[in-house]
Amino acid sequence: MTLDLCSREPVCIATNDPLAAAAALISARQNTSAKRLGEPAPSGQQLRAVLGLAAHAPDHGALNPWRFVVVPMAERFRLGEAFARALADRDCGATSQQMEAAREKAQRAPLLLLAVLRAATPGSSHIPDSERLVCLGCAVQNVLLGAQALGFGSGLTSGQAMDSAHLRAMFSLAESERAICFLNIGTVQSPRPSRERPRLEDFVSTL
Ligand SMILES: Cc1cc2nc3c(=O)[nH]c(=O)nc-3n(C[C@H](O)[C@H](O)[C@H](O)COP(=O)(O)O)c2cc1C
Repeated sequence: MTLDLCSREPVCIATNDPLAAAAALISARQNTSAKRLGEPAPSGQQLRAVLGLAAHAPDHGALNPWRFVVVPMAERFRLGEAFARALADRDCGATSQQMEAAREKAQRAPLLLLAVLRAATPGSSHIPDSERLVCLGCAVQNVLLGAQALGFGSGLTSGQAMDSAHLRAMFSLAESERAICFLNIGTVQSPRPSRERPRLEDFVSTL
């Protein structure tokens, strides 16, 4: 098969194409900042269904090298404190406004999940962390797409606090585990235009 990478024609999928539903779902997902997400959040049943999709991620060696932690509203204050302490640790000159902004980040999304990588340990499977991280990324994307299918918006957040001792302690991370990103999920309050996507020729070539 020859892939025509030079074509300037937009990739067009007919609505009756079996790919159309998947394309519509995938292309509708875009990162929505937690500030733009509000209630309602997915119900408990919806959350279980969406999280179940994570288990369909490709997984070399069937290691299940990731886990998700739900951060309920009752724990957001503690998370905010962990963010603020992480900031104070790396910047002893942080102002009270910056500390408050760090705390406030924990309060934004109606539904908040932490994605944790289970990295390789000495003597564990030969599957490297790079592959485990790909697996986690696929699991995250499955969750985001599941939320999208239910009509919810989502956004990922990370930052320097992810590796902080405060956050690691709060989530009881094992030595081999790494906090990768938070998934913020809720109802989009104010949509924004979607970004321009890279073109096929920007990321596909033929050997
Ligand atoms: C692992 C990971 C961490 C991210 N962390 C942040 C973040 O801290 N803040 C943020 O605004 N966006 C974050 N994002 C979201 C990206 O900024 C977003 O995906 C990018 O702008 C592209 O937009 P799109 O998702 O709509 O295609 C993160 C994305 C990934 C994959």
